[in-house]
Amino acid sequence: MHKLAGKKILLGITGGIAAYKSALLCRELKRLGADVRVIMTVAATHFITPLTLQALSGHTVHCDLFEAESDHGMGHIELARWADLVIIAPASANTIAKLAHGQADDLLTTTVLACDKPLSLAPAMNSLMWQHLATQANIQLLISRGVTVLGPAEGEQACGEQGPGRMLEAEQIAEHLQQQLNQELLAGKKVVVTAGPTWEAIDPVRGLTNHSSGKMGYELASALRDAGASITLISGPTALSPPAGVDYINITSAKEMTDAVMANVPSCDIFIGVAAVADYRPVSPAQQKIKKDADSLSIELVRNPDILAMVAALDDAPFTVGFAAETEKVVENAQKKLTAKGIHMIAANPVSGKNSAFNADSNELTLIDRDGISHLSRCSKPLLAQKLTKEIAQRYYETYPAKDS
Ligand code: CTP
Repeated sequence: MHKLAGKKILLGITGGIAAYKSALLCRELKRLGADVRVIMTVAATHFITPLTLQALSGHTVHCDLFEAESDHGMGHIELARWADLVIIAPASANTIAKLAHGQADDLLTTTVLACDKPLSLAPAMNSLMWQHLATQANIQLLISRGVTVLGPAEGEQACGEQGPGRMLEAEQIAEHLQQQLNQELLAGKKVVVTAGPTWEAIDPVRGLTNHSSGKMGYELASALRDAGASITLISGPTALSPPAGVDYINITSAKEMTDAVMANVPSCDIFIGVAAVADYRPVSPAQQKIKKDADSLSIELVRNPDILAMVAALDDAPFTVGFAAETEKVVENAQKKLTAKGIHMIAANPVSGKNSAFNADSNELTLIDRDGISHLSRCSKPLLAQKLTKEIAQRYYETYPAKDS
């Protein structure tokens, strides 16, 4: 019965009549074995008392951003670090707007901003407030960043309106959280991910590279981490900060990426090549900056190793996933790469025209494996990364059934 045993859930309560249901939610989460700590906004305390939540959670309830931390032993940073997951129920229109825009003017919004754990919201408000374009735009913004929105339900509201805006029932929210926390699909698995472009030196100041931003690879590394895997992210030069909680190896050239991959791949279960690896490098980069003395200049290039194919050819090869960046005949070309590289699965995306994946915040993928083709429709890269993680995990366990624990 203790499906949430050992899980640490931070329950945020904002101001709204549905706050009374949060008491039931707190009790339900405790019944399922979770350790629950509660943050209430000042508005929430007008609807339900901190004492009620303290009695139900067994912990002091946090309300004040400026409370002396020594009193309770936990400030916003500690609470953010402590939690495995944050649920805000009810989430008012005001708090949703603040979260969407990164405002942090109370303990709850400050804690959420300092927290990189999964965030779920159970909105509750008057149906017209919910349907207002401003609220809907804020919700879409949060969803595009990977926030899970639970409900709201339709029905009669405390204010007398009919329509969407009722908070989900405590049991329904607890059920969602269970699913979310038990999505540890890849617990105990080691995954090596490559990301970003490579840079092949022509001379000390110039090089050959490409438009890869690294976003998809970094998002995928985060999603795999959230699914319980330990991640080694081997990245070429990007403007991104490495995701928290992953082993990060920064390289420049394809040769360096090859060495880093070959050093890390023997102990891994899954290898995913998201990097846009340069296929060729200058044979002998100039030691000094090349001067523009000649009217024309030829640079001789030599093929780089194909990292993905090398990994797939290993005796004890991991489950191997490639990406195919294509400007035309996306599926056909990706299918050829799947076979030529001897890999288990390939995710193909267009990299030309208005739907180019390069440098974009959204993407779509066609997944091809030895059994067929499926499609993940266009959405934000964080969301796409979550969906792709599930697809990869499913195929990994199908390929290596003995490794399913
Ligand atoms: N890849 C790799 N090593 C290389 C080149 C590519 O590991 N030297 C991997 C990429 O990380 C990606 C997949 O191979 O997962 C396909 O990359 P892509 O550039 O689309 O294809 P290429 O194999 O380079 O073929 P082409 O450039 O001819 O389309």
